[in-house]
Amino acid sequence: MYFKTSEKHEALRAQIREFAEAEIKPFAFQWDTDNAFPREVIQKMAAKGWLGIPYPKEYGGAGLDIISYAIAVEELARCDGGCGVILSAHVSLGTWPIFAFGNDEQKKKYLPPLCRGEKLGAFGLTEPNAGSDAGGTETTAVLNGDHYILNGEKIFITNGGEADTYVVFAVTTPGIGTKGISAFILEKGMPGFEFGDHYNKLGIRSSATAQLLFNDVKVPKENLLGKEGQGFKIAMATLDGGRIGIAAQALGIAQGAFESAVEYAKDRIQFDKPIAFQQAISFKIADMATKIDSARLLVYRAADLKENHEPYGKESAMAKQYASDIALEVVNDALQIYGGNGYLKGMDVERFYRDAKITTIYEGTNEIQRVVIASHILGKPPKEAASPSAKAAAQNITGARKKMILKEGSAAERVAVLVENLKSDGYDFSVGIPIDTPITKAERVVSAGKGIGSKENMKLAEDLAKAAGAALGSSRPVAETLRYVPLNRYVGMSGQKFMGNLYIACGISGAIQHLKGIKDAATIVAINKNANAKIFKNCDYGIVGDVNEILPLLTQALGTDEKKPAGPMKKIKRITPKKERPSYGFYVCSGCGYEYNASLGDPAADIAPYTLFKDLPEDWVCPECAEAKANFIEA
Ligand code: CAA
Repeated sequence: MYFKTSEKHEALRAQIREFAEAEIKPFAFQWDTDNAFPREVIQKMAAKGWLGIPYPKEYGGAGLDIISYAIAVEELARCDGGCGVILSAHVSLGTWPIFAFGNDEQKKKYLPPLCRGEKLGAFGLTEPNAGSDAGGTETTAVLNGDHYILNGEKIFITNGGEADTYVVFAVTTPGIGTKGISAFILEKGMPGFEFGDHYNKLGIRSSATAQLLFNDVKVPKENLLGKEGQGFKIAMATLDGGRIGIAAQALGIAQGAFESAVEYAKDRIQFDKPIAFQQAISFKIADMATKIDSARLLVYRAADLKENHEPYGKESAMAKQYASDIALEVVNDALQIYGGNGYLKGMDVERFYRDAKITTIYEGTNEIQRVVIASHILGKPPKEAASPSAKAAAQNITGARKKMILKEGSAAERVAVLVENLKSDGYDFSVGIPIDTPITKAERVVSAGKGIGSKENMKLAEDLAKAAGAALGSSRPVAETLRYVPLNRYVGMSGQKFMGNLYIACGISGAIQHLKGIKDAATIVAINKNANAKIFKNCDYGIVGDVNEILPLLTQALGTDEKKPAGPMKKIKRITPKKERPSYGFYVCSGCGYEYNASLGDPAADIAPYTLFKDLPEDWVCPECAEAKANFIEA
């Protein structure tokens, strides 16, 4: 077989290349430096019809094929990796699931503005505990009349905040794994649907990446995409196509770095001739070109299979894995050819070097691509169910905590209950440490997160620190972005670790890196107005309330008198929560006293582990004495 792109493909490439050279290349360094999303350029691309390249004209698309789409992503990424992924996430992830799984009304409503580029699309699958294990989704959607109510969060979402239309995955039937996940179309602006900050990334900095936050978001029933329980398959099928886009992005980055290095190597004279003609460099160039061409063939093959409605899941995973692996090798070689000059900011190879890395991570790490490829070849490996305790442990980043969350009663009553509990745990608030004690040496810390609000409000945290006899700390953004406190006062895995007794988190939502930095605290107290904040799953005591109201009351309750200097720190024993009764309950046979253990199931009767008692077949009998299920008693 002789494979060659058509004249039309190459004409499109030339058109996009000309555009990217004029509209993207000169600005890419600045967008990278400023973490700036190139809105105007995206609008210009929309005007050219490129945001709907592979979709039919009846929906406002350009009616071109998937290879044309791959070429478009490749050519954008050849000048700027960020622009490549903006298009890829929009076309493959934000738009395709609606095109493939939407009903007529959904397609008519959502596709034309997406295909014409009047609206930008995004895809919300990844969560803190559901990355590679996408089936571990924890965002919930509960049907309530005509609406689903969504609660939870998504992280690392490409086009997050900039996009208008989001395909989001949430659990509609808990406890049944991937078959309980459903897909929804969400619109920016729905009440309770908010965004976290634009992440500060290593590369692809012109693309926006943000958290999606759902707090009781009311999503109309009509926005369920496909059927209830089909969400995981929709996500997987979408990613099969999305991986062609990421493969094309990696290919474009490699191509850009390669061309730049070749040009440099031809100009740079050492030992009286261009380094391009020194064998060490010419061999590198030959290897780079071969790798890029091989990747291109894999990418276009996957695109062509998709275009022709043939199976392409294995091929798109191969293309993504190979193109991104060789992109890392090519950008590394390109920078090596540039030598010291390539190590400088402003050189495109320096940016390509950083941009390439993400392509081996997102839309399925390259380890997951190998899982996918291998499963196409070998079939499914036997599954071991993750135990509920392992899943719960993943939530509890700070370990087992008491989790007494105070939501009811007046603010003063909630504060009084907290203070009473802290005192009975052994905290003496007549003594204290200086507010500027280093975090690593402090016995107590009061920390402020972004929820503290304006800089003047830091006074509330400082007053509370003095009243609690504590040092003052903060979350990372408060020190790094807002600069309310010096950098050496932020607490977290990447900052200072707190290993003392009492940690009071004020307006801190609970990023994983922050929680890991306080996991050794004896007692964690959280004050936050968002009842869904992750910190509440990781604290001993929590008050759901506004810091403006709670902090002054707590300061008052702890006493504003001068504190006596505290003696050397004595570590307080961590409060260990009482073992909770398993949610699946205990059922005991009235005949012989056998206790059904849901975590074990009943293998002899083919009952899988984690089968709830209520889900046992009605003809199931006691394995010890053959007593009927109906004669079991809930203990
Ligand atoms: N298409 C359709 N259905 C599929 C499928 C596919 N490609 N892959 C799996 N399924 C179906 C299976 O057939 C199975 O259905 P049945 O139970 O009816 O047989 C069901 O889904 C569950 O499949 P598995 O048991 O194989 O699922 P798993 O939990 O073992 O996971 C996995 C498999 C491949 C590891 C998957 O979890 C995965 O792809 N993980 C990576 C997730 C990922 O790529 N995330 C990227 C997020 S998006 C992003 O990164 C965007 C960006 O920033 C640009």
